[in-house]
Amino acid sequence: MNAIVPNDPNRVIVFDTTLRDGEQAPGFSLGVKDKLMLAHTLKDLGVDVIEAGFAASSPGDEEAIRTIAREVVGPTFCSLSRALESDIDAAARALLPAKRKRCHIFLATSPIHRAAKLKKTREQVVEIAHKAVSYASTIFDEVEFSPEDAIRTEQDFLHEVCIAAAEAGARTLNIPDTVGYTTPKEIYQIFSDLKAALKDHPQVILSAHNHDDLGLGVANTLAALEAGARQIEVTINGIGERAGNAALEEVVMALRTRPELFKLHTGINTPLLSKASHLLSRATGTIVMRNKAVVGRNAFAHESGIHQHGMLTDARTYEIMRPEDVGAEKSNLVLGKHSGRHAIAKQAAALGFDLDELSLGDLFAAFKRRADEIGEIDEFELMSLLTRDNADK
Ligand code: KIV
Ligand code: ZN
Repeated sequence: MNAIVPNDPNRVIVFDTTLRDGEQAPGFSLGVKDKLMLAHTLKDLGVDVIEAGFAASSPGDEEAIRTIAREVVGPTFCSLSRALESDIDAAARALLPAKRKRCHIFLATSPIHRAAKLKKTREQVVEIAHKAVSYASTIFDEVEFSPEDAIRTEQDFLHEVCIAAAEAGARTLNIPDTVGYTTPKEIYQIFSDLKAALKDHPQVILSAHNHDDLGLGVANTLAALEAGARQIEVTINGIGERAGNAALEEVVMALRTRPELFKLHTGINTPLLSKASHLLSRATGTIVMRNKAVVGRNAFAHESGIHQHGMLTDARTYEIMRPEDVGAEKSNLVLGKHSGRHAIAKQAAALGFDLDELSLGDLFAAFKRRADEIGEIDEFELMSLLTRDNADK
């Protein structure tokens, strides 16, 4: 793991919540063994904070957090907690073996959550938040506070509750878009205004936690970073409640691919991104979409003739990242009905067939007919076309 250089204003803290927000979504449930294997993977990947679970949610979750905190050494470990002493105590018990422990306290603040869930006034919410953060601050190395549904919270009240949490000892204020409702322009303003409201608490780190209900989780996370957030709460493959959370690999690679725009960096060992994605997919039994950004099977695959021609000349024509930078297999020129003669000739040459123009013309015609029938033409299929007698007659 890259150490965080103290006072490096451009270093983004990566807080991974795959094992908490990711795992709590339908279809992504994990046993202790798989959680432990994934926690080792997250550590190797270089995440700074691992939210290993929600200790008070079940004895099994508490035990899983304890096992992970005991076995995996390096990152800070964190448990989610409601603003209740009993939850905070459960988090403390679970994190006992961890070298560095963080308690992540959340409390709903938006009008709809206050009325429908908490049945509390604004004043009561501030008091509960202050009390819980003060209590946790006496036990943990670090306390993070999240005003749940922050984006739909009245902004003056969001500032008030955040200031109260900072005064009580919270060193990270996470501003979750719990329901994936915001847009890049709006969240930029929310983070800018909050940063200004917290001018007397310069030590506080603002954190972005965006859900993907409108497909904007990654874009909103990047906008929050541009407005001054320095922690991102993300999950591998973007798994999480409903449409998921902002995907770790996408935010990290956006920062890495466009350094001139963001001027920010993480400690993520990006060549391990594909491995982390595959291990999670296997552990949850959930396939990653072929066209998923960064880690999908198609992320470095090209079928159309024009693209393949460009790729054969210079990969930068159609790739903005190098496959080795995310641990993907080298760019894959998939042969199919959209492929051109150039790519087919090259693949035939790789198989040992140096074709003259006439033979290539025959092969090309046979190839197109076969591709119309079966779609992708793999190496074996191409070989059988190359070795067929009178392939195009
Ligand atoms: O989305 C959310 O609001 C959360 C909080 C518990 C931080 O996951
Ligand atoms: Zn969440």
